[in-house]
Amino acid sequence: MNLEDKFGREHNYLRVSLTDRCNLKCIYCNPMGKVSQKLNRNELLSFDELKRLIRIFLSEFGIKKIRLTGGEPLLRKDSDKFIRSIGELKTLYGFELALTTNGTILKNYLPALKLYGVDRLNISLDSLKPLNYNYITGCNDSHLSNSLKYVIDSIKIAETMNFKELKINTVILKGINDNEVIDFVNFIKNRDITLRFIEYMPFGDNEWMKDRFICTDEIIEKIKKYFDLEKENDCYGSVAETYRISNFKGKVGFISPISSHFCKSCNRLRIKANGKMKLCLFSSSSKEEIDLKGYLRDPSLTDSDIKQVIMSSVLNKEKEHAPIDELLKLKNSSMLNTGG
Ligand code: 5AD
Repeated sequence: MNLEDKFGREHNYLRVSLTDRCNLKCIYCNPMGKVSQKLNRNELLSFDELKRLIRIFLSEFGIKKIRLTGGEPLLRKDSDKFIRSIGELKTLYGFELALTTNGTILKNYLPALKLYGVDRLNISLDSLKPLNYNYITGCNDSHLSNSLKYVIDSIKIAETMNFKELKINTVILKGINDNEVIDFVNFIKNRDITLRFIEYMPFGDNEWMKDRFICTDEIIEKIKKYFDLEKENDCYGSVAETYRISNFKGKVGFISPISSHFCKSCNRLRIKANGKMKLCLFSSSSKEEIDLKGYLRDPSLTDSDIKQVIMSSVLNKEKEHAPIDELLKLKNSSMLNTGG
């Protein structure tokens, strides 16, 4: 059965946050480390609960893609074992497994991720210059100060491993890394990687600054001064506009949640690390979140009851999220809990 809302949108993409913890304090996500990352064990969905929930989504709603996110998902203890157990469901349900990571502890996990069936890997990388990387990610302490090199090494290894798709996510901030746009594009010239520039979004705790915002059109203008961009046809549900550049192995994509809504083709649902389901990335915590953890922990409820809860919640999904000025006023939850 399809998980459709009243606007006819079919939801076949589930994003699952494994933890609210992150070892970075990116200035666009958790400036100065102000967001507390402190879900205790009991507040977190256990791996058994998560697996039960994921099974319900797969068996009842034909979910086609599951992305594991964080915080930094690999920081959760035994994340690799959990990924294996989800990968094992692929033969039965035929879905794609994806992971979003900041890459800072990725290297040693790569062989396992490949073996356990991760198809797509998204790695966040916001600067190619060590000092700037450390500034953006708040990586100034000694054990993380070499992170940029580590992340790039991990990307280079991942490139050789035949993942179905390897992407780099880059948030461009005016005055901070907008002078690196062309360097980033050159970075994927000889790499089979999709580089995606994501517009800087406001969230409850990220102290969004308007003068740091740079829209997709402006980034495209910068790139067009040096390269010819050829637009690709994007598939349904895709949030990025993707372009090819002649003689380039890699592609460039743009995700523009601020300058152009993609609510019309939204096909995604999110499970936060605390077991709340978000129908929209921008939904505010009080209103539009459904506490699936509560339902999963109620011994009187069966899988079929939980299925009903999910179906009726999705049916009531809003047509679109509020415009940016409204979003700034809302107290929507931090990305740390939700994972992009
Ligand atoms: N604006 C845009 N992208 C963000 N991400 C996290 N916070 C923001 C924000 N405020 C992105 C990161 C990462 C993905 C998980 O979400 O770049 O790639």
